Amino acid sequence: MKKLIVANLKMNPQTFTEADRLARAASSAARKVKNVEVVFCPPFVWLECLAAEYGKKAIFGGQDAFWEERGAYTGEISPVMLKNIGARYVIIGHSERRIHLGETDEMINKKIKAALGAGLKVILCVGETLKEHRAGRTKFVLARQLRKDLKSVSKLNIYNSKLVIAYEPIWAIGTGLAETPMSAGYMADFIRRVSGARRVIYGGSVSAKNIKGFLSRREIDGALVGGASLDAGEFSKIIKIAAYV
Ligand code: PGA
Repeated sequence: MKKLIVANLKMNPQTFTEADRLARAASSAARKVKNVEVVFCPPFVWLECLAAEYGKKAIFGGQDAFWEERGAYTGEISPVMLKNIGARYVIIGHSERRIHLGETDEMINKKIKAALGAGLKVILCVGETLKEHRAGRTKFVLARQLRKDLKSVSKLNIYNSKLVIAYEPIWAIGTGLAETPMSAGYMADFIRRVSGARRVIYGGSVSAKNIKGFLSRREIDGALVGGASLDAGEFSKIIKIAAYV
């Protein structure tokens, strides 16, 4: 299976010009490698334009989607809309949404089902807080999230790689303090056994310096990259390294 490298731009950058520059660099790096699947997830407002321009070389994804197809849900975007503008993936349950927007496992579960139903591939994010990590509760937290988030999600979707799980320890996100490849690999293996997912990736302070260590672990199939995806050179380097690991 190809390595999966996902750019999560979050609420960045501020202008279309800059988003376009990042997407162009990522798609050009993606075109040069055969064994890496590059997924670019910009803010919604630029998704359609960028997917139309660069969709042949890179794959595009949304950073979230609502659980209903249409209706009176001010500010929300439906999975069908994403699919219709050329997105193939969607990130669901990112810890920033769980923390800042109060997303619960029940909401995440509904979103996953709606997104899969619309024909999108889902990147589900799970991970523990620093307190839970220090208390040695990581496996317990992951098992609970997976049980609730994947409740009655079709096993077929899980087994045939429509569902990717990103292990993202919350304390490692945006801090420069990445998990060690060994521990991340151990948790990725645990996630795979509990969920049945075939693709498990790591996220949390991934950079061109540490990507090789993560991808060298057989349990880790790729990376979800936040901060480093905002630097065109750095993100291209990550793609290039992924192709040789
Ligand atoms: P980071 O973000 O690479 O900036 O730590 C990762 C993420 O939140 O997906």
